[in-house]
Amino acid sequence: MKFLSAFFLGNALTNAADRFLPPWQYDGTVWPLPQSMAVTQEFQILDANIQFVLTPESPQCDIIPDIFQRYQDLIRSHFKIASSSSKKLKFSASSAAGIIDTIEVKIINCENYPSQNMNESYTLQVGSPTPEKVELTASAEWGVIHGLESFTQMIHNIDYRPSVNSTMITDWPRFPFRGFLIDTSRHYLPISVIKAQITALSWNKMNILHWHIVDLQSFPYESQVLPELSFLGSYTPLHVYTIHEIKDIIEFARLRGVRVVPEFDTPGHTDAWGPGGGPKFLTPCYRNGEPDGSHGPINPIYQENYDLMRKLFTEVNEVFRDSYLHLGGDEVPFGCWKSNPDITAYMAKNNLTTYAQLEQVWVQGMVDIAHDLKKNYVVWEEVFVNGVKISNETVVEVWKGRSGTWKDTMNAVTKSGHKAILASPWYLNIISYGVDWEGYYVIEPTDFNGTAEQNKLVMGGSAAMWGEFVDGTNILQRIWPRASAVAERLWSDKSVNQPGPARWRLNEWRCKMLARGLPAQPAIQNPNVNPNFGYCPYPFDPFNNAHYLF
Ligand SMILES: *[C@@H]1O[C@H](CO)[C@@H](O)[C@H](O)[C@H]1NC(C)=O
Ligand SMILES: *[C@@H]1O[C@H](CO)[C@@H](O)[C@H](O)[C@H]1NC(C)=O
Ligand SMILES: *[C@@H]1O[C@H](CO)[C@@H](O)[C@H](O)[C@H]1NC(C)=O
Ligand SMILES: *[C@@H]1O[C@H](CO)[C@@H](O)[C@H](O)[C@H]1NC(C)=O
Ligand SMILES: *[C@@H]1O[C@H](CO)[C@@H](O)[C@H](O)[C@H]1NC(C)=O
Repeated sequence: MKFLSAFFLGNALTNAADRFLPPWQYDGTVWPLPQSMAVTQEFQILDANIQFVLTPESPQCDIIPDIFQRYQDLIRSHFKIASSSSKKLKFSASSAAGIIDTIEVKIINCENYPSQNMNESYTLQVGSPTPEKVELTASAEWGVIHGLESFTQMIHNIDYRPSVNSTMITDWPRFPFRGFLIDTSRHYLPISVIKAQITALSWNKMNILHWHIVDLQSFPYESQVLPELSFLGSYTPLHVYTIHEIKDIIEFARLRGVRVVPEFDTPGHTDAWGPGGGPKFLTPCYRNGEPDGSHGPINPIYQENYDLMRKLFTEVNEVFRDSYLHLGGDEVPFGCWKSNPDITAYMAKNNLTTYAQLEQVWVQGMVDIAHDLKKNYVVWEEVFVNGVKISNETVVEVWKGRSGTWKDTMNAVTKSGHKAILASPWYLNIISYGVDWEGYYVIEPTDFNGTAEQNKLVMGGSAAMWGEFVDGTNILQRIWPRASAVAERLWSDKSVNQPGPARWRLNEWRCKMLARGLPAQPAIQNPNVNPNFGYCPYPFDPFNNAHYLF
């Protein structure tokens, strides 16, 4: 860096060069920015054997030992980095206010399972009046995770010693729904990669893995009640997720405060269901009055198909404990239904005049099943836009109109009394050369022409990495740190939306994620514009540090 600073000295970048922070001077920023955070110049150094204790009145939530272990490991990793510095310690204890040897955690109440109503709030106090003891108070175990995450991010090195400034944080999420979609149909994703993604979500205080598990390319969900669906519909019978594996992933996510919401998208996007779904499952398409051998969406005229879905969802309901189920409903092509004479006859008999009404028959069937299973459900926006009748409890996920027309859809959805999740501007699978996180960062989910009542119906948002061009080889690199921009928009105060002040913080946070083994790409700023961006002084070693990920 010395070389670069000298090289650029004298041009307009001197200011930026001054701003470059060598590893031992990292600021200890917290990402996403807490709702309230007061940092002072006073600092404490950390004892390498820092202890975690629960206050006697706190209930013993079952995931606490795992949380403590993980954060103890992460905090210890800072000592490895500090001692690997080539410079000698020249620390003088007198300048520090004290040595932190204990993190005391108080929990009000165990929730045990993350849910839509989870309470993620916490307060964190470092420094006076008790410099040797950090006090973390959380409403539930999720706030313990978030508080320890914030604390760990605050560690920076002063005189080569891991230190934390005296700080008071009061923090809670702005939106309860902070999701991320992965797609395991276009490409199979190894379980270790899914777990690493869950870990990264948790570090970024995102709380939902939206698992788009099946689609037209493959059906990797291995059902026990309908094993032929994956046996015939997966790429190979080895590239499946067994119920045992899924339960393991869900438990892994629970330990990190992340919900797993599965999506079984119907009636479109279902080609891979065809072979295992039986001869009546998909609609045969006709040309010139004859079946042409191709198939369209699920055939909504047969009761057997609803029965199959009920059987499947009854099992899915037991496997995925979250109270939400994503029912899909996007991009249903009507052409094949239109061509099929049995469907035409069914529609005439049942007085259906539009294909949206036919779609409604199917969606109503899915909604009835979800209702019987006491599941809440999310649907893609088409279900609403096509005029399918859905209850007010339905959550509508808005995904179209990246250019800005999503605002009209958000307005329409909330005006009709439905809850909404915004995804349109956060399709991270759409990539181009250069920096794009700033575009994600300035999005405001309530920025549509709605009333205060309508804004209350915005549950949050979801970023997405559709799977056409990613698999285990590149998905994490492509998601991070771009998704961190979305994470901050969904967690932090509405006013935290300026890329300028966020840029250095995000650079630092990306570097910390690297140090923890997450292969987050250098995508914060073009180093031709400013050479100090993208450089990360921490040794990145995904093979050595992978244990932080899964
Ligand atoms: C933390 O404390 C150090 C040492 O006093 C000081 O240089 C630094 O500015 C403080 N950080 C913040 C963010 O205030
Ligand atoms: C979380 O719990 C705290 C008290 O511990 C309460 O003040 C806050 O309103 C709760 N938040 C939510 C979203 O329920
Ligand atoms: C058929 O539907 C139309 C409009 O949807 C309605 O006006 C008509 O009464 C219905 N006829 C029967 C027989 O249900
Ligand atoms: C659904 O929301 C609309 C708009 O807020 C409202 O008029 C209607 O009464 C609600 N329906 C139910 C069943 O709550
Ligand atoms: C927002 O609503 C107001 C009042 O209904 C209207 O005057 C204005 O044109 C709308 N703005 C947009 C951008 O639609």
